[in-house]
Amino acid sequence: MANDTFLRACRRQPAEYTPVWLMRQAGRYMKEYMAIRGKHTFLEMCKTPELACEVTLQPIRAFALDAAIIFADILLPLEGMGIKLEFAKNEGPQIKNPVRTKKDIDAVRVINPAEDVPYLLKAIKMVKSELNGRVPLIGFSGAPFTLASYIIEGEGSRNYIHTKGLMYSDPGAWKAFMEKIADVITVYLQAQIEAGAEAVQLFDSWVGCLGPDDYREFVLPYTKKVIDSVKNTVPVINFSTNTGTYLDIVKQAGGDVMGVDWRVRLDDAWKTIGHDRAIQGNLDPVVLFAPVEVIRRRVKEVLDMAGGKPGHIFNLGHGIIVGTPVDNVRALVDSVHEFSRR
Ligand code: CP3
Repeated sequence: MANDTFLRACRRQPAEYTPVWLMRQAGRYMKEYMAIRGKHTFLEMCKTPELACEVTLQPIRAFALDAAIIFADILLPLEGMGIKLEFAKNEGPQIKNPVRTKKDIDAVRVINPAEDVPYLLKAIKMVKSELNGRVPLIGFSGAPFTLASYIIEGEGSRNYIHTKGLMYSDPGAWKAFMEKIADVITVYLQAQIEAGAEAVQLFDSWVGCLGPDDYREFVLPYTKKVIDSVKNTVPVINFSTNTGTYLDIVKQAGGDVMGVDWRVRLDDAWKTIGHDRAIQGNLDPVVLFAPVEVIRRRVKEVLDMAGGKPGHIFNLGHGIIVGTPVDNVRALVDSVHEFSRR
């Protein structure tokens, strides 16, 4: 591997500088992405390995990033689970048959990745071949709660009434569903690792709608089961948002690297998590809309909170936002390297 700074940081080994990659680094803020997106739907792009490969590589060519992340979505396993997904124009994805009852849960299938997401595994192989060891490739999945809540709600949600409704009123059905989802995520990640992913990230973007006791009871066992089943293969990043008040519980689910958002100071988060784990984060993505001097100062502040200790991977606290100026992304990546070079 020509640039192994990211993998070294995952293992808390020293590197010549702090590695940086950005969640959603392939996306609509880049004109190269929009040129392809103008001719294809999002799902077509995911399901055509040549296109998924190309957009995965676009940010690697444009910026000095230290890792690539495969172009995909957390909802790709749904079709194989028997759940009908539609990406309506200019709206988020919608599920025609959301899972709400015990009967619905029983009908959900555990996927066979080779049959259900062959395009993803092919895209991973193509990207690996194109990258040729330049930087590592990250695979990913939604974490059990975030995936379950999307499938239960059927779309984005403010209050998670159906999800929490099932959890609170029928804990047996919740358990059965989370176990099935954990099995899906496990085989989905294992297939990505077999295809060549050199690290994997679980996105628990929505789990922060729960308090600490509900996280412990209704989420922790399932996320832990997934991480335990892949942890001895490649590094696992356990990313969540809005969990700053109970990172001590989230860390019990495991993960070589804990991904944290900007609602918590990086130094406080690392102290809570413990310095026996690596940490990823955590600049507010909206800082990228500020002038370059402000971005550079805020990058420096995050690096100072990490204190130059091995095991920090620089990232945003969540994905890049559409409309982010490309030159500011370049300024961020370059300043991380400039300020952290040892
Ligand atoms: O770093 C990465 O590149 C990871 C890839 C990734 C995508 N979406 C790509 C994507 C990940 C981890 C997600 C997460 C995701 N996707 C979640 C969890 C919440 C979150 O944001 O972390 C959910 C609920 C989804 C489902 C989904 N996919 C939604 C709600 C949308 C529409 C929102 C939007 O930004 O338009 C998508 C489409 C999607 N997923 C795009 C990308 C790059 C935009 C595609 C396009 O329209 O060109």
